[in-house]
Amino acid sequence: MFNGFVMKTKLFNYLLDKMKNKQYVINQFSPSFKAANNIIMVEREAPSEQQVLIKNMYVGINALYDRELYRGAVPYIDVTFPYVFGVEAVGEIVAVGDKVKAFKVGDQVGTVKVGTAYQEYQCIDAEHVIAFPEATKEYLTISPTGVSAHLALTEVAELVGNETVVVSAAAGGLGHILVQLCCMKGCKVVAICGSQQKVEMLESLDCCERIINYRQESVDRILSTDYKDKINIAIDSVGRNIFDSFLKNLAPKGKLVVIGLASELSDESFEKIHSPRMYENMYWKGTSVRCFMNHLYKEKHHDSRQYLFNLFQKGSLKIKVDETKFSGIESIAAASKYLLAGKSCGKVVVEL
Ligand SMILES: NC(=O)c1ccc[n+]([C@@H]2O[C@H](COP(=O)([O-])OP(=O)(O)OC[C@H]3O[C@@H](n4cnc5c(N)ncnc54)[C@H](OP(=O)(O)O)[C@@H]3O)[C@@H](O)[C@H]2O)c1
Repeated sequence: MFNGFVMKTKLFNYLLDKMKNKQYVINQFSPSFKAANNIIMVEREAPSEQQVLIKNMYVGINALYDRELYRGAVPYIDVTFPYVFGVEAVGEIVAVGDKVKAFKVGDQVGTVKVGTAYQEYQCIDAEHVIAFPEATKEYLTISPTGVSAHLALTEVAELVGNETVVVSAAAGGLGHILVQLCCMKGCKVVAICGSQQKVEMLESLDCCERIINYRQESVDRILSTDYKDKINIAIDSVGRNIFDSFLKNLAPKGKLVVIGLASELSDESFEKIHSPRMYENMYWKGTSVRCFMNHLYKEKHHDSRQYLFNLFQKGSLKIKVDETKFSGIESIAAASKYLLAGKSCGKVVVEL
C-alpha cells in the first residue's frame, strides 16, 4: 500500500513537471549576471488562437547585449520584471493555436525576438515564427548573427567588391561570417583576433590575406605600415585602440562601421579621451564613421536570411559554432561568462 502511494506521487510529480517551463529571467537591473538574473519554474502556457508553442532546442548567446539589457542600458526595450531574456532560438513546434495555418506540430522553426529565448518552451505569435530547414546550431547562427554581418556589409558599409576590409573580433560568431562574405566579394581581408586558437580557426576558413593576433603583434603598427590609407572598409565590434587604428588608416572615402563596442560596454562609463575631434583625421580624406543596429533593418531580414541559408546549403559559407558544450537553462550563466571572457571561437550556443 505504501509502495502504491509512492508510485502515484512519483507519477503525479512527473505529470506536473511535464506542464512546467524553466526560464532564465531578469529580476532586477544590475551589472552582475548573478544579481540580476535567476531561474524560475512557471506553468507551461497553452497557445492562443494565433500562437504556437515551441520546444526550444538551441539558443544563441549574446552575452554583451544581454549584459546591457540586464543592467538596464538598452533604451529601446521596455523591461518588466520578471523578464525572460535571450534573443534567438530554434526548436520544434509542439502545439498550434486554432487559427494558425502556416505551421503544424513537428515543424522545425526559429525565432529572433528580444525577451523570448532563454526558456525551455516559448509560446509566441505565429507571425514571429520563421520556418527553418532544420533546427540546428548552424541555422541558429545564421539567424540572426549572420544576418547582422550581411546587412552591416550591404546596407551600411555598402560593400561593392574588391575592397580592402579589416574586421575586429574576426573569429567570433559575427566576425567569422563577415570575413567570409567579404572574401566572396573578392576583397582583401585583414582579420584581427586574440588567440592562437582563433588564428587557426580563421586560417581554416582560407579567406584572409592577413590574420593579426593582437596579443602577439601590434595592430596599430601593422595597419600604419602595411595598410596606411588603404583600408576601404573597417568593421569594428571592439572599440578603443582598435577603433582608433582603423579610423587613422582608412583610405580616402573609407568607411568605418561600428557594429559593437565589446571593450567599452560594461558597468564602467565610457573611456574619456582627450584628443582633437574625430574630423581632424577624417575631413581631408572624406572618410566616414557609421553604426549598424540589426533591429533597424527588419524589412531586410527575410531576404538576407534566405540568401545566407542558400550560401550555407551550397557549402560556400562555413558556420563555426564554439565547441565548448553548454547544456540546459542552468548553463546559460556559464556560457555568458565564457563569451565575456573573450574565449569564444565561433558562435556560442546552449543546447536545451
Ligand atoms: N549592432 C548589432 O546589431 C549587432 C548584432 C550582432 C552582434 N553585435 C555585436 O557584435 C559583437 C560580436 O558578437 P558575437 O556574439 O559574435 O560575439 P563574439 O565576437 O563571438 O565574442 C566577442 C569577442 O569580442 C572580443 N572582445 C574584445 N574585447 C572584449 C571584451 N571586453 N569583452 C568581451 N569580448 C571582447 C573577443 O575576441 P578577440 O579577443 O578575438 O578580439 C571576443 O571573443 C558583439 O560586440 C555584439 O554585441 C552587434
